[in-house]
Amino acid sequence: MSEPLTHNTPQIPLQVIILAAGKGTRMYSNTPKVLHELAGKALVQHVIDSAKALDASSISLVYGHGGEQVKQTLSNESLLWCEQTEQLGTGHAVQQAVGAINDEANVLILYGDVPLLSKETLEKLLIAKAEQNLALLTANLDNPSGYGRIVRTDNKIEKIVEEKDASEEIKTITEVNSGVMVVNGEKLKTWLSQIGNNNAQGEYYLTDLIELAVKEGETVNSYIVRDHKEIEGINNKLQLADLEREYQKRQAICLMTQGVTLKDPARFDLRGEVELGMDVIIDINVIIEGQCKIGHNVKIGANSIIKDMIIGDNVEILENCILEKSIVGNGCNIGPYARLRPDTELGENAKVGNFVEIKKSIIAQGSKVNHLSYIGDTHMGKNVNVGAGTITCNYDGAYKHITKIGDNAFIGSNTALVAPIEIGEGATIGAGSTLNKDAEENKLTFSRAPQKKIEGWKRPSKNKA
Ligand code: UD1
Ligand code: CA
Repeated sequence: MSEPLTHNTPQIPLQVIILAAGKGTRMYSNTPKVLHELAGKALVQHVIDSAKALDASSISLVYGHGGEQVKQTLSNESLLWCEQTEQLGTGHAVQQAVGAINDEANVLILYGDVPLLSKETLEKLLIAKAEQNLALLTANLDNPSGYGRIVRTDNKIEKIVEEKDASEEIKTITEVNSGVMVVNGEKLKTWLSQIGNNNAQGEYYLTDLIELAVKEGETVNSYIVRDHKEIEGINNKLQLADLEREYQKRQAICLMTQGVTLKDPARFDLRGEVELGMDVIIDINVIIEGQCKIGHNVKIGANSIIKDMIIGDNVEILENCILEKSIVGNGCNIGPYARLRPDTELGENAKVGNFVEIKKSIIAQGSKVNHLSYIGDTHMGKNVNVGAGTITCNYDGAYKHITKIGDNAFIGSNTALVAPIEIGEGATIGAGSTLNKDAEENKLTFSRAPQKKIEGWKRPSKNKA
């Protein structure tokens, strides 16, 4: 029985080579081009993730400019690092990586600055390669200028001619080389050793492989990609912004298809991953970052940033909130203008209101911090009411200290709680107090200068001339 024609026929391992040595001169930046971010993730990381999604047995990264920065950013990835000290062309770049290539492998060559290529497209290219030794990913563009052109005779691919080497006639060809190809490992090594640099740019062109293959009687297959954004590379900040929007649009469409209401998909950004429940409504200019999980019936107000959050059901987040690395229970109400800093946990139906900052604290079920407060390093019980302007003084200049507040306590407005301190259950703290000792449960405690009345006092007034 013959094997099915899929790329993942088990006996053919897939090895990926990512070219990322180029400088990216037109980015005008000290950051290497492939480390510029798209949707909060380095360009080259998008490419690595695609390679991983294909179950590649190895991923080689050809690096050059900004090598140390690239290595540092990708330190968690298991990559084969191949340095290209001088950028002598795409063929020369691949040459730096062939040492680790097995003869029988399918070698997929990708560019580190082409971030939108999908797994589905790459799978189709691998299928196009199945019976051949070489297959190319191509596209038909209305404006093909700048790209290498695919020259066909009787519909068969014959060679690729770079724009700079092209005659006027060849420049009229609209089928272009995306740069992405799959080639048999052994053939790759043989053909690479034969390419020269006798061309307009004096470079070793990877694209010369095609003519060599055809001369040996090989058939070069192609997969023609319809979605041109997938093969677009990034050379400058305009293209970076363009592909960012494109990527965001795709994510927004995906979320809306799953039932999320986006008030304006053009003003929504997802820089990471999010899992969303039913009937989630997201107003304009919301940024969701990192890894987030959001429950059912959640409303997120305009201009809010939600990063690494776990949010329960029936939560309302009003406008202009910044929430990071915290957990929000069901039925909570947050904002407007609220900030949750890392390691905060809000119990069910808790309320955090205007201009309130909460850091590394537990606010248990039903408790309210509604106005103008800082709560840090605090364990707050249930149904506590924290008055406007309450501050937990958690830092003594050297160390952080804990504030504990029992269930049903009532903290009057404009109170400073100097930690370490414990407020007992059901305690009431008079407004304007500064407390540096514990307050007993169910008692009224306050520290306040007695109110005075000065007889005969007059407001100063200006002398009449
Ligand atoms: C290349 C193709 C062209 C194709 C186009 C698609 C060749 C000769 N030409 O042209 O047919 O239409 O891509 O975008 O292959 N790189 C290195 N080391 C080098 C040179 C390049 O790592 O010495 C990397 C770059 O960082 C980049 C990629 O290879 O990621 C492509 O290089 P680039 O110079 O942009 O190739 P093009 O001239 O655009
Ligand atoms: Ca290019």
